[in-house]
Amino acid sequence: MTAAPVQLGDGLTVSPLGFGGMALTPVYGDVDPAEALRTLHHAVDAGVTFLDTADIYGGGSNEELIARLLNERRDEVQLATKFGLVGTPSAGYTDIRGDAAYVKQAVDRSLQRLGTDTIDLYYLHRRDLRVPIVETVEAMAELVQAGKVRHLGLSEVTAEELREASTVHPIAAVQSEWSIWSRDVERNVVPAAAGLGVGFVPYSPLGRGFLTGTVDVSTLGSNDFRRNIPRFAENAAAANQGVVAAVGAVAAELTAAGNPATPAQVALAWLLVQGARLGLPVVPIPGTRKADRIDENLGALTLNLTPAQLGALDAAADAVVGSRSADPNWVSQGRE
Ligand SMILES: NC(=O)c1ccc[n+]([C@@H]2O[C@H](COP(=O)([O-])OP(=O)(O)OC[C@H]3O[C@@H](n4cnc5c(N)ncnc54)[C@H](OP(=O)(O)O)[C@@H]3O)[C@@H](O)[C@H]2O)c1
Repeated sequence: MTAAPVQLGDGLTVSPLGFGGMALTPVYGDVDPAEALRTLHHAVDAGVTFLDTADIYGGGSNEELIARLLNERRDEVQLATKFGLVGTPSAGYTDIRGDAAYVKQAVDRSLQRLGTDTIDLYYLHRRDLRVPIVETVEAMAELVQAGKVRHLGLSEVTAEELREASTVHPIAAVQSEWSIWSRDVERNVVPAAAGLGVGFVPYSPLGRGFLTGTVDVSTLGSNDFRRNIPRFAENAAAANQGVVAAVGAVAAELTAAGNPATPAQVALAWLLVQGARLGLPVVPIPGTRKADRIDENLGALTLNLTPAQLGALDAAADAVVGSRSADPNWVSQGRE
């Protein structure tokens, strides 16, 4: 990869595209562990060195998988993990904890599973509504002082929560869902992040695969997480084919003009343009189990979208049917 690294907030520099590790333990279908490890190595070989995991993914086994890479290549990666969701793979999340005692326990468990002594970016995965966010961030700031963590991040916070947290310690990044079909963050939290010098890490930048046109909701496995999401319900997904068509049409137009492009590349390139338009560093973290898709997704870094193509993609979001979460409090939008 030739694209330059990107500086998020608080001086944290990462590769311009990250890698979302969540689906390397089963969440969107089965995983072959040997292939998952090969995919991780391929990401780093290709220059995608900003790796994203969480303690809840696979009940800890996702961090343990990442540990197998870190064991050989710790110095090559910027490692991000998250805490705060409590649960098991079979039960899902059963609680959210942001109290200081839990923060201290969680980091030690993650460090042990990851087999490292420092986490580059430690995110609060979800805000605990029973605990003032400043208390949680104070406890996280102590982890920086102790050398266990280098930078702090927050996932699915509102603009107000981000502002409060930033009074305690600089925040390097907000990680929330953001893509062509999930644009609610642009109203409040993205402008707040831009104003505070905080970077943005869009999760599910491919719409959990939907925007690529490769997801047939009628064939999702019984334990596929997407079954829980209203916009993936069969009727909603049928209506949402319009967004898929808009992304596919832009990819086809670019290809016909001699600039071969895929829907995944178009979806990621749109996010990079949004970062430039809204004035903040944006580093998407697409996930995949397949090494060749990492190479494909990297093509987004050199893709140019015309103003007309951007206009068509911008408009596509207006036609989306179904919310991005069944629980309004689960995402920042529901608490704004
Ligand atoms: N903070 C949070 O609460 C939160 C929530 C969700 C996710 N995340 C993070 O964000 C990361 C990415 O999000 P995500 O995995 O939910 O969604 P995503 O990156 O939008 O989409 C992942 C899906 O897209 C498919 N895919 C990837 N590249 C493709 C390509 N070039 N063409 C066609 N399909 C492609 C993958 O399938 P294959 O595996 O078959 O390639 C996978 O099912 C996660 O791994 C996780 O680290 C964070």
